[in-house]
Amino acid sequence: MLEKKIRTLFVFGTRPEAIKLCPVVNRLRSRPEFEVSVCVTAQHRGLLDQVLAAFEVVPDFDLDLMLPDQTLAQSTSRIVAGLDPVLRSVAPDMLLVQGDTTTTFCGALAGFYQKLPVGHVEAGLRTWDIWQPFPEEMNRLLATRLATLHFAATDWAAANLFAEGVPADRVAVTGNTGIDAVLYVRDKLEQGKLHGLDWPQLDPARKLIVVTAHRRESFGEGFEHICSALGRLAERPDVQIVYPVHPNPNVQAPVRRHLTGRPNVLLVDPLEYVPFVDLMRRAWILITDSGGVQEEGPSLGKPILVLRAKTERPEAVQAGTVKLVGTDEDAIVREAARLLEDPQEYERMARVHNPYGDGRASGRIADLIVSFITRYSCKNNS
Ligand code: UD1
Ligand code: UDP
Repeated sequence: MLEKKIRTLFVFGTRPEAIKLCPVVNRLRSRPEFEVSVCVTAQHRGLLDQVLAAFEVVPDFDLDLMLPDQTLAQSTSRIVAGLDPVLRSVAPDMLLVQGDTTTTFCGALAGFYQKLPVGHVEAGLRTWDIWQPFPEEMNRLLATRLATLHFAATDWAAANLFAEGVPADRVAVTGNTGIDAVLYVRDKLEQGKLHGLDWPQLDPARKLIVVTAHRRESFGEGFEHICSALGRLAERPDVQIVYPVHPNPNVQAPVRRHLTGRPNVLLVDPLEYVPFVDLMRRAWILITDSGGVQEEGPSLGKPILVLRAKTERPEAVQAGTVKLVGTDEDAIVREAARLLEDPQEYERMARVHNPYGDGRASGRIADLIVSFITRYSCKNNS
């Protein structure tokens, strides 16, 4: 039995971290053992705020650090400096970060500097290529070195951590908290308790392709190829494309230049989470370079073409519901055409399965934190 509440501080800053941590924040808040604080770096502003509103999470600290077209060095230095006084004032028993962004790495580093136990949610994903995804693969490696407790989504991710020498008693397989979020929203949409947007522009006679893309390693040439491929696909009479365009100026510029005014291509602002999940449900296929969408697609039974040469999420590729197509224009067009024209190939890839989690990861993480704090009450064990 714990004598006092466990003080936890969540640090996050971007859309995917918020989608994957808000279910954990709300789970811990529902339990009497925890005192919960939330600090957002606001590495993202608009994209983050959409998610906070959807999950009704009001941050206790908001560093409001986003700059237009920020460099990695700018974000890193400002986030570490901004977090220092917050960590000092909260003095949490455990600091929680998620994933692989600049905020993730900086949160773990700032925690390490103050000798705080850091819990890393979605630990252990690897491509073993520090340039793909860049800088996320390195952020994950560094977060692993800095963290005390490692919440791996799958057995494969846990095995990666063991292979790097992370002690077995510091690693647990929990499932991905993003699956908690998507299964909750999917079920509520199916029950009519949540609603997406009306899409009067969509033609039910055409197959819908939903696209997202934003990776740094694809800026420049990669994006030119992606956009050319989408332009070619949009010329097909049986296709309609909806593309919520990430606000990063390095994405906006090529996408708007290539695809504005094209019939059958709808460029829209980033969607709120619930309408986006609803849109994915309506899709024939998803084309994306997003980590989160790669995990959500299988739970919605949607085939996914991934605009990357390597993925740190191989489970659905091995199961055959996700295919890597890179940024090669012909490969994107060819593989999408197959899924539009070949019913057997489509059936093979459109299988509902949940390789990344069962929707109960947040509860497991809460239990693991309690048992860790009960075992190690001393703050500066590493
Ligand atoms: C970041 C993460 C990436 C994650 C992605 C999710 C890093 C290095 N990258 O990439 O891992 O997959 O978020 O979306 O942490 N911007 C806005 N409004 C917003 C968000 C971004 O205008 O709400 C624009 C700003 O000009 C900003 C730029 O996008 O400077 C880049 O944002 P940043 O967080 O540095 O990188 P992302 O490309 O979003
Ligand atoms: N998403 C969203 N609105 C959109 C596009 C994506 O809510 O218009 C969600 C998506 O469902 C997933 C997450 O954002 O949960 C993925 O975020 P992103 O692609 O920005 O980052 P990544 O997962 O690649 O790190």
